[in-house]
Amino acid sequence: MNVFVTGGTGYIGSHTCVELLEAGHSVVVADNLVNSSPESLRRVEKLTGKAVPFYNADIRDRDALNRIFDQYSFDCAIHFAGLKAVGESVEQPLRYYRNNLDSTMTLMEVMGDRGVKNILFSSSATVYSQDNTMPLTEESRTGGCTNPYGWTKFMCEEIMRSTAKADGEWSVMLLRYFNPVGAHPSGLMGEDPRGIPNNLMPFITQTAAGRRDHLNVFGNDYPTPDGTGVRDYIHVVDLAKGHVAAMQYMAEHRGTHVFNLGTGTGYSVLDMVHAFEKATGKPLPYKIAPRRPGDVAVVYADPSKSEKLLGWKAELDLEDMCRDSWNWQSHNPNGYGEEEK
Ligand code: NAD
Ligand code: WQD
Repeated sequence: MNVFVTGGTGYIGSHTCVELLEAGHSVVVADNLVNSSPESLRRVEKLTGKAVPFYNADIRDRDALNRIFDQYSFDCAIHFAGLKAVGESVEQPLRYYRNNLDSTMTLMEVMGDRGVKNILFSSSATVYSQDNTMPLTEESRTGGCTNPYGWTKFMCEEIMRSTAKADGEWSVMLLRYFNPVGAHPSGLMGEDPRGIPNNLMPFITQTAAGRRDHLNVFGNDYPTPDGTGVRDYIHVVDLAKGHVAAMQYMAEHRGTHVFNLGTGTGYSVLDMVHAFEKATGKPLPYKIAPRRPGDVAVVYADPSKSEKLLGWKAELDLEDMCRDSWNWQSHNPNGYGEEEK
Protein backbone atom coordinates (compact mmCIF):
# COMPACT_ATOMS: atom_id res chain seq x y z
CA MET A 1 0.00 0.00 0.00
CA ASN A 2 1.01 3.61 -0.51
CA VAL A 3 0.90 5.22 2.93
CA PHE A 4 0.81 8.91 3.88
CA VAL A 5 2.62 9.15 7.21
CA THR A 6 2.06 12.32 9.25
CA GLY A 7 4.59 12.91 12.02
CA GLY A 8 6.83 10.36 10.32
CA THR A 9 10.13 11.94 11.36
CA GLY A 10 9.19 11.41 15.02
CA TYR A 11 10.07 8.52 17.30
CA ILE A 12 7.24 6.05 16.58
CA GLY A 13 6.58 7.27 13.03
CA SER A 14 10.17 6.76 11.85
CA HIS A 15 10.32 3.24 13.31
CA THR A 16 7.00 2.45 11.66
CA CYS A 17 8.33 3.67 8.30
CA VAL A 18 11.10 1.04 8.56
CA GLU A 19 8.61 -1.76 9.21
CA LEU A 20 6.24 -0.57 6.45
CA LEU A 21 9.06 -0.40 3.90
CA GLU A 22 10.39 -3.78 4.96
CA ALA A 23 6.91 -5.26 4.53
CA GLY A 24 6.85 -3.97 0.93
CA HIS A 25 4.72 -0.83 1.38
CA SER A 26 5.77 2.65 0.26
CA VAL A 27 5.61 5.79 2.40
CA VAL A 28 5.47 9.55 1.99
CA VAL A 29 6.17 11.57 5.14
CA ALA A 30 4.95 15.01 6.19
CA ASP A 31 6.12 16.63 9.43
CA ASN A 32 6.68 20.23 10.56
CA LEU A 33 9.72 19.17 12.63
CA VAL A 34 8.37 20.82 15.79
CA ASN A 35 9.70 17.85 17.79
CA SER A 36 11.96 15.90 15.43
CA SER A 37 14.77 15.96 12.92
CA PRO A 38 14.67 14.94 9.24
CA GLU A 39 17.87 12.99 9.94
CA SER A 40 15.64 10.17 11.24
CA LEU A 41 14.40 9.58 7.68
CA ARG A 42 17.95 9.46 6.33
CA ARG A 43 18.49 6.62 8.81
CA VAL A 44 15.29 4.94 7.61
CA GLU A 45 16.62 5.15 4.05
CA LYS A 46 19.98 3.81 5.12
CA LEU A 47 18.42 0.85 6.91
CA THR A 48 15.92 -0.08 4.21
CA GLY A 49 17.75 1.04 1.05
CA LYS A 50 14.51 2.73 -0.05
CA ALA A 51 13.72 6.39 -0.70
CA VAL A 52 11.38 8.23 1.63
CA PRO A 53 9.85 11.38 0.13
CA PHE A 54 9.63 14.04 2.86
CA TYR A 55 7.57 17.23 3.05
CA ASN A 56 8.24 19.84 5.71
CA ALA A 57 4.58 20.68 6.24
CA ASP A 58 2.15 21.43 9.03
CA ILE A 59 -0.77 19.01 8.89
CA ARG A 60 -3.09 21.91 9.72
CA ASP A 61 -2.06 23.54 6.42
CA ARG A 62 -4.77 22.46 3.97
CA ASP A 63 -2.99 23.90 0.92
CA ALA A 64 0.21 22.04 1.77
CA LEU A 65 -1.72 18.78 2.17
CA ASN A 66 -3.54 19.34 -1.13
CA ARG A 67 -0.22 19.86 -2.90
CA ILE A 68 1.04 16.54 -1.51
CA PHE A 69 -2.18 14.69 -2.35
CA ASP A 70 -1.98 16.13 -5.91
CA GLN A 71 1.27 14.25 -6.41
CA TYR A 72 0.44 10.82 -4.98
CA SER A 73 -2.32 8.31 -4.92
CA PHE A 74 -2.54 7.12 -1.31
CA ASP A 75 -4.33 4.06 0.02
CA CYS A 76 -4.35 5.23 3.62
CA ALA A 77 -2.80 7.56 6.19
CA ILE A 78 -1.19 6.89 9.54
CA HIS A 79 -1.64 9.98 11.67
CA PHE A 80 1.23 10.22 14.16
CA ALA A 81 1.58 14.02 14.04
CA GLY A 82 0.76 15.62 17.35
CA LEU A 83 2.14 17.29 20.42
CA LYS A 84 2.57 14.78 23.25
CA ALA A 85 4.05 16.30 26.41
CA VAL A 86 1.54 15.94 29.22
CA GLY A 87 2.96 18.70 31.46
CA GLU A 88 3.30 21.15 28.58
CA SER A 89 -0.32 20.50 27.63
CA VAL A 90 -1.40 21.65 31.10
CA GLU A 91 0.53 24.90 30.64
CA GLN A 92 -0.43 25.48 26.99
CA PRO A 93 -3.87 23.90 26.54
CA LEU A 94 -4.94 25.96 23.52
CA ARG A 95 -1.75 25.10 21.65
CA TYR A 96 -2.43 21.41 22.26
CA TYR A 97 -6.12 21.52 21.35
CA ARG A 98 -5.41 23.65 18.26
CA ASN A 99 -2.55 21.48 17.04
CA ASN A 100 -3.90 18.02 17.73
CA LEU A 101 -7.55 18.59 16.82
CA ASP A 102 -7.02 20.90 13.85
CA SER A 103 -4.43 18.58 12.27
CA THR A 104 -6.79 15.62 12.60
CA MET A 105 -9.79 17.44 11.11
CA THR A 106 -7.84 19.05 8.26
CA LEU A 107 -6.22 15.73 7.38
CA MET A 108 -9.56 13.91 7.36
CA GLU A 109 -11.20 16.62 5.25
CA VAL A 110 -8.46 16.50 2.63
CA MET A 111 -8.50 12.69 2.66
CA GLY A 112 -12.30 12.64 2.35
CA ASP A 113 -12.20 15.06 -0.61
CA ARG A 114 -9.81 12.70 -2.37
CA GLY A 115 -11.72 9.55 -1.50
CA VAL A 116 -8.86 8.24 0.67
CA LYS A 117 -10.97 7.04 3.59
CA ASN A 118 -8.62 4.75 5.51
CA ILE A 119 -6.83 6.11 8.56
CA LEU A 120 -4.87 4.74 11.51
CA PHE A 121 -4.56 7.00 14.52
CA SER A 122 -1.96 7.19 17.29
CA SER A 123 -4.19 7.10 20.32
CA SER A 124 -3.05 6.39 23.81
CA ALA A 125 -3.79 4.44 26.96
CA THR A 126 -4.25 7.88 28.48
CA VAL A 127 -7.86 7.90 27.09
CA TYR A 128 -8.87 5.28 29.69
CA SER A 129 -10.51 6.49 32.90
CA GLN A 130 -8.50 6.15 36.06
CA ASP A 131 -11.21 4.13 37.83
CA ASN A 132 -10.85 1.02 35.65
CA THR A 133 -9.60 -2.30 36.96
CA MET A 134 -6.50 -3.75 35.31
CA PRO A 135 -5.80 -4.98 32.73
CA LEU A 136 -7.41 -2.44 30.41
CA THR A 137 -9.46 -3.92 27.58
CA GLU A 138 -10.74 -1.93 24.62
CA GLU A 139 -14.11 -2.00 26.42
CA SER A 140 -12.76 -0.34 29.58
CA ARG A 141 -14.23 3.07 30.39
CA THR A 142 -12.71 6.11 28.67
CA GLY A 143 -12.79 9.81 29.54
CA GLY A 144 -12.16 11.74 32.74
CA CYS A 145 -8.71 12.58 31.35
CA THR A 146 -6.39 14.36 33.75
CA ASN A 147 -4.73 16.70 31.24
CA PRO A 148 -5.43 18.49 27.91
CA TYR A 149 -3.12 16.13 25.99
CA GLY A 150 -5.25 13.16 27.05
CA TRP A 151 -8.43 15.02 26.10
CA THR A 152 -7.04 15.73 22.61
CA LYS A 153 -6.62 11.97 22.09
CA PHE A 154 -10.11 11.32 23.48
CA MET A 155 -11.61 14.02 21.23
CA CYS A 156 -9.72 12.91 18.11
CA GLU A 157 -11.08 9.41 18.67
CA GLU A 158 -14.60 10.88 18.81
CA ILE A 159 -14.02 13.00 15.68
CA MET A 160 -12.89 9.93 13.78
CA ARG A 161 -15.66 7.73 15.14
CA SER A 162 -18.35 10.25 14.18
CA THR A 163 -16.89 10.68 10.69
CA ALA A 164 -16.88 6.93 10.10
CA LYS A 165 -20.44 6.66 11.45
CA ALA A 166 -21.69 9.34 9.07
CA ASP A 167 -19.91 7.94 6.02
CA GLY A 168 -19.70 4.16 5.83
CA GLU A 169 -16.80 4.33 3.38
CA TRP A 170 -14.38 5.25 6.16
CA SER A 171 -12.19 2.75 7.97
CA VAL A 172 -10.71 4.05 11.19
CA MET A 173 -8.20 2.24 13.37
CA LEU A 174 -7.82 3.72 16.84
CA LEU A 175 -4.55 2.32 18.16
CA ARG A 176 -4.05 2.87 21.88
CA TYR A 177 -0.36 2.71 22.68
CA PHE A 178 0.83 1.91 26.16
CA ASN A 179 4.43 2.98 27.04
CA PRO A 180 6.68 2.84 23.96
CA VAL A 181 10.40 2.50 24.75
CA GLY A 182 13.49 1.04 23.08
CA ALA A 183 15.05 1.78 19.74
CA HIS A 184 15.89 0.10 16.47
CA PRO A 185 18.39 -2.71 17.19
CA SER A 186 20.80 -1.26 14.60
CA GLY A 187 21.50 1.67 16.95
CA LEU A 188 20.77 4.03 14.04
CA MET A 189 17.36 5.18 15.23
CA GLY A 190 15.77 5.93 18.57
CA GLU A 191 13.98 8.46 20.72
CA ASP A 192 15.45 11.95 20.62
CA PRO A 193 13.52 14.06 23.13
CA ARG A 194 14.05 17.81 23.31
CA GLY A 195 15.01 19.32 26.66
CA ILE A 196 14.72 17.42 29.90
CA PRO A 197 12.86 14.15 29.22
CA ASN A 198 9.49 13.69 30.91
CA ASN A 199 9.34 9.97 30.26
CA LEU A 200 11.13 7.34 32.27
CA MET A 201 13.27 5.53 29.69
CA PRO A 202 14.93 8.57 28.04
CA PHE A 203 15.64 9.93 31.52
CA ILE A 204 17.26 6.62 32.45
CA THR A 205 19.44 6.50 29.32
CA GLN A 206 20.53 10.12 29.71
CA THR A 207 21.40 9.47 33.35
CA ALA A 208 23.46 6.43 32.36
CA ALA A 209 25.22 8.58 29.75
CA GLY A 210 26.09 11.18 32.40
CA ARG A 211 23.87 13.91 30.94
CA ARG A 212 21.71 13.81 34.10
CA ASP A 213 22.93 13.47 37.65
CA HIS A 214 20.47 10.84 38.83
CA LEU A 215 16.98 9.51 38.16
CA ASN A 216 14.19 10.69 40.44
CA VAL A 217 11.88 7.78 41.18
CA PHE A 218 8.49 9.42 41.58
CA GLY A 219 7.06 7.73 44.67
CA ASN A 220 7.79 4.42 46.40
CA ASP A 221 4.59 4.21 48.42
CA TYR A 222 2.19 2.99 45.74
CA PRO A 223 0.24 -0.23 46.39
CA THR A 224 2.59 -2.23 44.11
CA PRO A 225 5.10 -4.98 45.02
CA ASP A 226 8.05 -2.56 45.41
CA GLY A 227 6.00 0.62 45.94
CA THR A 228 6.92 2.23 42.59
CA GLY A 229 4.60 2.82 39.64
CA VAL A 230 3.87 -0.05 37.23
CA ARG A 231 3.46 0.43 33.46
CA ASP A 232 3.18 -1.64 30.29
CA TYR A 233 6.41 -0.85 28.41
CA ILE A 234 6.42 -1.93 24.77
CA HIS A 235 9.40 -2.06 22.42
CA VAL A 236 8.97 0.54 19.65
CA VAL A 237 9.78 -2.06 16.97
CA ASP A 238 6.93 -4.28 18.22
CA LEU A 239 4.67 -1.22 18.24
CA ALA A 240 5.73 -0.36 14.68
CA LYS A 241 4.92 -3.89 13.54
CA GLY A 242 1.49 -3.51 15.15
CA HIS A 243 0.77 -0.74 12.64
CA VAL A 244 1.60 -2.99 9.70
CA ALA A 245 -0.78 -5.63 11.06
CA ALA A 246 -3.48 -3.05 11.77
CA MET A 247 -3.18 -1.63 8.25
CA GLN A 248 -3.81 -5.07 6.84
CA TYR A 249 -6.86 -5.53 9.07
CA MET A 250 -8.22 -2.12 8.06
CA ALA A 251 -8.03 -3.04 4.38
CA GLU A 252 -10.48 -5.87 5.06
CA HIS A 253 -12.77 -4.28 7.68
CA ARG A 254 -14.65 -1.01 7.27
CA GLY A 255 -15.86 1.03 10.24
CA THR A 256 -14.16 2.00 13.47
CA HIS A 257 -11.95 -0.46 15.33
CA VAL A 258 -10.09 0.02 18.59
CA PHE A 259 -6.95 -1.91 19.53
CA ASN A 260 -4.62 -1.86 22.51
CA LEU A 261 -0.97 -2.04 21.55
CA GLY A 262 0.77 -3.18 24.72
CA THR A 263 2.45 -6.32 26.03
CA GLY A 264 0.07 -7.21 28.85
CA THR A 265 2.91 -7.19 31.40
CA GLY A 266 3.52 -4.45 33.92
CA TYR A 267 6.96 -3.48 35.22
CA SER A 268 7.75 -1.12 38.07
CA VAL A 269 10.14 1.83 37.91
CA LEU A 270 12.66 -0.16 39.95
CA ASP A 271 12.23 -3.19 37.64
CA MET A 272 13.20 -0.83 34.81
CA VAL A 273 16.20 0.52 36.72
CA HIS A 274 17.49 -2.97 37.51
CA ALA A 275 16.90 -4.29 33.98
CA PHE A 276 18.77 -1.31 32.62
CA GLU A 277 21.66 -1.84 35.03
CA LYS A 278 21.84 -5.44 33.87
CA ALA A 279 21.80 -4.43 30.19
CA THR A 280 24.54 -1.80 30.59
CA GLY A 281 26.57 -3.51 33.30
CA LYS A 282 26.81 -0.36 35.39
CA PRO A 283 24.87 1.07 38.33
CA LEU A 284 22.24 3.72 37.65
CA PRO A 285 22.13 6.46 40.27
CA TYR A 286 18.60 7.15 41.52
CA LYS A 287 16.82 8.87 44.40
CA ILE A 288 13.33 8.36 45.72
CA ALA A 289 11.34 11.56 45.13
CA PRO A 290 7.71 12.55 45.86
CA ARG A 291 4.93 11.18 43.66
CA ARG A 292 4.39 13.05 40.39
CA PRO A 293 0.96 14.73 40.35
CA GLY A 294 -1.52 12.92 38.10
CA ASP A 295 0.33 9.57 38.16
CA VAL A 296 -1.55 6.37 38.95
CA ALA A 297 -0.16 3.25 40.57
CA VAL A 298 -0.63 0.62 37.86
CA VAL A 299 -1.48 0.67 34.14
CA TYR A 300 -1.27 -2.30 31.80
CA ALA A 301 -3.07 -3.64 28.77
CA ASP A 302 -5.05 -6.68 27.90
CA PRO A 303 -3.66 -7.12 24.37
CA SER A 304 -5.65 -10.28 23.57
CA LYS A 305 -7.97 -8.57 21.04
CA SER A 306 -4.94 -7.44 19.00
CA GLU A 307 -3.48 -10.92 19.14
CA LYS A 308 -6.74 -12.55 18.08
CA LEU A 309 -7.86 -10.16 15.34
CA LEU A 310 -4.62 -8.57 14.09
CA GLY A 311 -2.49 -11.67 14.54
CA TRP A 312 0.02 -9.41 16.27
CA LYS A 313 1.68 -9.62 19.63
CA ALA A 314 4.72 -8.01 21.19
CA GLU A 315 7.73 -10.28 21.01
CA LEU A 316 10.59 -8.29 22.50
CA ASP A 317 11.19 -8.31 26.24
CA LEU A 318 12.45 -5.88 28.85
CA GLU A 319 16.06 -6.86 28.23
CA ASP A 320 15.66 -6.07 24.50
CA MET A 321 14.07 -2.71 25.37
CA CYS A 322 16.92 -1.73 27.71
CA ARG A 323 19.72 -3.03 25.48
CA ASP A 324 18.38 -1.26 22.38
CA SER A 325 17.70 2.02 24.21
CA TRP A 326 21.25 2.02 25.52
CA ASN A 327 22.74 1.02 22.18
CA TRP A 328 21.02 4.04 20.59
CA GLN A 329 21.91 6.47 23.40
CA SER A 330 25.54 5.39 23.71
CA HIS A 331 26.16 5.60 19.94
CA ASN A 332 24.22 8.84 19.48
CA PRO A 333 24.82 10.89 22.65
CA ASN A 334 23.20 13.93 21.04
CA GLY A 335 20.40 12.09 19.31
CA TYR A 336 20.22 12.88 15.61
CA GLY A 337 23.29 15.03 15.76
CA GLU A 338 21.97 18.42 16.71
CA GLU A 339 23.60 20.62 19.33
CA GLU A 340 23.28 19.52 22.96
CA LYS A 341 19.68 20.34 23.89
P1 NAD B 1 7.17 12.53 18.39
O1 NAD B 1 7.05 13.89 18.97
O2 NAD B 1 8.51 11.94 18.26
O3 NAD B 1 6.44 12.48 16.96
C1 NAD B 1 5.35 13.32 16.64
C2 NAD B 1 5.71 14.07 15.37
O4 NAD B 1 4.64 14.93 14.98
C3 NAD B 1 6.95 14.96 15.55
O5 NAD B 1 7.89 14.61 14.56
C4 NAD B 1 6.41 16.37 15.36
O6 NAD B 1 7.38 17.21 14.74
C5 NAD B 1 5.20 16.13 14.49
N1 NAD B 1 4.13 17.14 14.56
C6 NAD B 1 3.48 17.62 15.65
N2 NAD B 1 2.54 18.49 15.28
C7 NAD B 1 2.58 18.57 13.93
C8 NAD B 1 1.85 19.31 12.96
N3 NAD B 1 0.86 20.15 13.30
N4 NAD B 1 2.17 19.15 11.66
C9 NAD B 1 3.15 18.30 11.28
N5 NAD B 1 3.88 17.58 12.14
C10 NAD B 1 3.58 17.72 13.47
O7 NAD B 1 6.22 11.58 19.26
P2 NAD B 1 6.02 10.01 19.20
O8 NAD B 1 6.39 9.47 20.52
O9 NAD B 1 6.62 9.45 17.97
O10 NAD B 1 4.44 9.95 19.09
C11 NAD B 1 3.75 9.78 17.88
C12 NAD B 1 2.26 9.83 18.16
O11 NAD B 1 1.94 8.79 19.09
C13 NAD B 1 1.79 11.13 18.80
O12 NAD B 1 0.53 11.46 18.27
C14 NAD B 1 1.68 10.78 20.27
O13 NAD B 1 0.74 11.57 20.93
C15 NAD B 1 1.23 9.34 20.19
N6 NAD B 1 1.56 8.55 21.40
C16 NAD B 1 2.84 8.56 21.88
C17 NAD B 1 3.15 7.85 23.03
C18 NAD B 1 4.54 7.90 23.61
O14 NAD B 1 4.68 7.64 24.82
N7 NAD B 1 5.59 8.19 22.83
C19 NAD B 1 2.16 7.10 23.67
C20 NAD B 1 0.86 7.10 23.15
C21 NAD B 1 0.58 7.84 22.00
C1 WQD C 1 6.43 5.93 33.70
C2 WQD C 1 6.64 5.65 35.18
C3 WQD C 1 6.45 7.60 36.55
C4 WQD C 1 9.95 9.69 34.93
C5 WQD C 1 3.13 9.05 29.77
C6 WQD C 1 1.89 9.78 29.35
C7 WQD C 1 1.01 8.89 28.53
C8 WQD C 1 1.78 8.24 27.37
C9 WQD C 1 3.07 7.65 27.80
C10 WQD C 1 1.41 9.48 25.35
C11 WQD C 1 5.66 6.39 36.09
C12 WQD C 1 7.86 7.05 36.60
C13 WQD C 1 8.94 8.77 35.19
C14 WQD C 1 10.95 9.91 35.92
C15 WQD C 1 9.86 8.27 37.32
N1 WQD C 1 2.12 9.19 26.35
N2 WQD C 1 8.91 8.07 36.36
N3 WQD C 1 10.86 9.18 37.08
O1 WQD C 1 3.34 8.60 32.88
O2 WQD C 1 3.01 6.17 32.25
O3 WQD C 1 2.76 7.92 30.55
O4 WQD C 1 3.82 8.58 28.59
O5 WQD C 1 0.28 9.18 25.09
O6 WQD C 1 -0.03 9.68 28.07
O7 WQD C 1 1.20 10.22 30.50
O8 WQD C 1 5.02 7.41 31.38
O9 WQD C 1 7.46 7.38 31.18
O10 WQD C 1 6.34 9.43 32.14
O11 WQD C 1 6.38 7.33 33.47
O12 WQD C 1 9.85 7.64 38.39
O13 WQD C 1 11.84 10.75 35.75
O14 WQD C 1 7.94 6.13 35.53
O15 WQD C 1 6.04 8.09 37.80
O16 WQD C 1 5.38 5.52 37.17
P1 WQD C 1 3.48 7.54 31.89
P2 WQD C 1 6.37 7.96 31.99
